[in-house]
Amino acid sequence: SGYVTLDIGYKNTGATKSAITFLDGEVGILKYRGYSIEQLAENSSFIEVAYLLIYGNLPTAEQLQAFEFEISHHTLVHEDMKKFFDGFPSGSHPMGQLSSLIGALAAFNPASLKQGLSAEEVNLEIIKLIAKMSTIVSWIYKKSLGHPVIYPRNKLDYVTNFMYMTFGQRTEDTEIDPVVVSAMNKLLILHADHEQNCSTSTVRIVGSSDANLYASISAGISALWGPLHGGANQAVVEMLQKIKQDGGDVDKWVAKAKDKNDPFRLMGFGHRVYKNFDPRAKIIKKACDDILEKLGINDETLEIAKKLEEVALSDPYFVERKLYPNVDFYSGIIYTALGFPTEMFTVLFALGRLPGWIAQWKEMKANKEPIGRPRQVYVGETNREYTDIKNR
Ligand code: CMC
Repeated sequence: SGYVTLDIGYKNTGATKSAITFLDGEVGILKYRGYSIEQLAENSSFIEVAYLLIYGNLPTAEQLQAFEFEISHHTLVHEDMKKFFDGFPSGSHPMGQLSSLIGALAAFNPASLKQGLSAEEVNLEIIKLIAKMSTIVSWIYKKSLGHPVIYPRNKLDYVTNFMYMTFGQRTEDTEIDPVVVSAMNKLLILHADHEQNCSTSTVRIVGSSDANLYASISAGISALWGPLHGGANQAVVEMLQKIKQDGGDVDKWVAKAKDKNDPFRLMGFGHRVYKNFDPRAKIIKKACDDILEKLGINDETLEIAKKLEEVALSDPYFVERKLYPNVDFYSGIIYTALGFPTEMFTVLFALGRLPGWIAQWKEMKANKEPIGRPRQVYVGETNREYTDIKNR
């Protein structure tokens, strides 16, 4: 009852006041806590950005060291979680595994379920989650190969440790290429937050019922899985491969994307908020060129992607609708160059987005926001008489 404003898809409804991420979609500006994404991607590390998002300021050298130190002491995941993990059939989608495993962390951490946790207790869960997420993501990759998992090497920094658990062999002397680590840092930074998107709103709304941190993040992971959201990075590379196999006729695929009778959309194009270049896509496009050159890789799909971008951006359909490449358009090409299979891409997006989700969850708690509960306009039947099943 009462007056309800209808805004399907929340296109114009602000759900919260937030001091974490600023986004101007008309101009194409993205800032975390006031720092431009360009400066952060160029100069910072993923863990430093995680600190910035969660605690509000860039850390001092001591604060950063303490943060890394604490995280590195929680990277082990309970061995009984392995039993649960081993039960997934081989070939199960990494995102299904990730959301379940993160949800299961709540069951393995009963202390996290207590209502009214102190600030220190909440902080410990945050540290544990960041630490265990990288271990779990590497487990999922190892399983896809049928390989045994690699235990963390805690003297390594977060991203190097993650790459070691993922790609290292079971010897202590495996070196992870710093070029690869730097590319990974950049990608994770670019994904670290994006204000009230679908998965972040999910995290906040689930958390608003006082559900625990792990349950809230697990719900966010499920929301991210969809191809209209984080799943787009996998869909882009699959699309580029299909175009390549089809002979590389970019115009044909652009025409398909414009055809309203064809459900095909140009994956990695368009955005709810950006009506200009996604600043992240610009940085990733350049990083793509750099990394492929440094690693000496010649990837035909990158050429197809660039041609696709050029054709689309000079086509009135895309121009009128202000459809530009988004963060997912080039990221998958870098993930491929680093050695990740396509099915892992959205999991890597989740690894990057984790600090943003945590910061948003924490802010929602600090603001003491009420339970999220949208209203509706009822359009169904009004009065019907129950009829016995025999008479229907
Ligand atoms: N290819 C072809 N046409 C498109 C595309 C596209 N990728 N994106 C939007 N359009 C058209 C759409 O058909 C509509 O046309 P019309 O006005 O004639 O009906 C118009 O542009 C507006 O699109 P919309 O679907 O109303 O816009 P939205 O804000 O609801 O959706 C979007 C945004 C990102 C879901 C959409 O652009 C899309 O489906 N893109 C492809 C998937 C993708 O790349 N997703 C990643 C998003 S960025 C990172 C993330 O969130 O994870």
